[in-house]
Amino acid sequence: MGNASTKARILTGDTPTGRLHLGHYVGSLENRLALQDEYDCYFLIANMHALTTRADRSQEIRADTIEIVKDWLSVGIDPERSTIVLQSEIPAISELSWYFAMLLPFNRVMRNPTLKTEIEAKGLGDTYSFGFPLYAVGQCADILVFRPELVPVGEDQVAHIEMTREVARRFNQIYCGVDPHAEDEEHERLGGLFPIPRALVGRVGRLVGTDGKHKMSKSLNNAIFLSDTPKQVKKKINSIYPGQSRNPDEPGDPDINPVFTYADAFIKDKEFVAELRRRYREGDNLGDGHVKAFVIEAIEELLGPIRQRRARLEGEEGDRRVLEIIREGARRANEIAEETLHLAKQRMGFDFGPRRLELP
Ligand code: TRP
Repeated sequence: MGNASTKARILTGDTPTGRLHLGHYVGSLENRLALQDEYDCYFLIANMHALTTRADRSQEIRADTIEIVKDWLSVGIDPERSTIVLQSEIPAISELSWYFAMLLPFNRVMRNPTLKTEIEAKGLGDTYSFGFPLYAVGQCADILVFRPELVPVGEDQVAHIEMTREVARRFNQIYCGVDPHAEDEEHERLGGLFPIPRALVGRVGRLVGTDGKHKMSKSLNNAIFLSDTPKQVKKKINSIYPGQSRNPDEPGDPDINPVFTYADAFIKDKEFVAELRRRYREGDNLGDGHVKAFVIEAIEELLGPIRQRRARLEGEEGDRRVLEIIREGARRANEIAEETLHLAKQRMGFDFGPRRLELP
């Protein structure tokens, strides 16, 4: 193995739907950065999942794929330490999805709350493709093919991880003889192929968007992107309605003001934030513009270095570098993914000799 490691593994990923935003940062990216040294990390770009709602725009998904890798590199994900995994380059994921699809009752998949929310939020009605609910099964395979211990995600993904845990248990019970009453932590020791991975939700599981109401999301037009200019950041923060109308010397309620959730998320000095809250509550000469200015400053402190790293990846040169990283990541990821698939087929009695994919 080129990348043999005794560290426990992490798998997580993003769907390439455009540029990443601050919600991704505090929900999951930040955790990934913190865990890069301690764990053997796999970061997956779910380009096949992006087809669920954009099958007619595959070229756009390709462009978004390259952008997302640039975002990752800009925040500090290091392709030397962590493996970048392009989903469509890992055939074992698709094969494992087929086997997992047989272990999940159809109605169980359709009851998955994340799928339900998505159908509503995106107004899919009953017109979605067969592949749409299938993606949730595919996500179980994205994860389990790397047999990880941890899956750092935003809150909205926890339902998918729960389904993944169910599939892992069922596979271990049916094909590996693990006792149905075994504790999750015991599965591997008892001969189960898959660990029962745990979700790790970020510091801010759900960051509210600049509309002050919904979760930050590109499709809701309420997002601050990691690649936004200082001018765009300023404009977006200043556009947030503070939930009340008051003068700097009038008492206000910080708890209904979404700007304070940004203060909590981005201003590092917690005592300073507590002091801002107190002054706001008491009407101690603290205007909404002031609070916003502090928030803008904190976000700029975060985004400044990210923008600088991103600038070095612009243009064709940057695209070439990203494609190299994707190829090298696919090589490393396929080593472990093929191994897992082989072991899974062995346990099922579906193994008829080793298979060697030609990996350049
Ligand atoms: N569904 C996730 C999202 O849209 C992306 C994703 C795909 C993922 N496969 C994954 C996340 C596996 C964690 C683990 O954000």
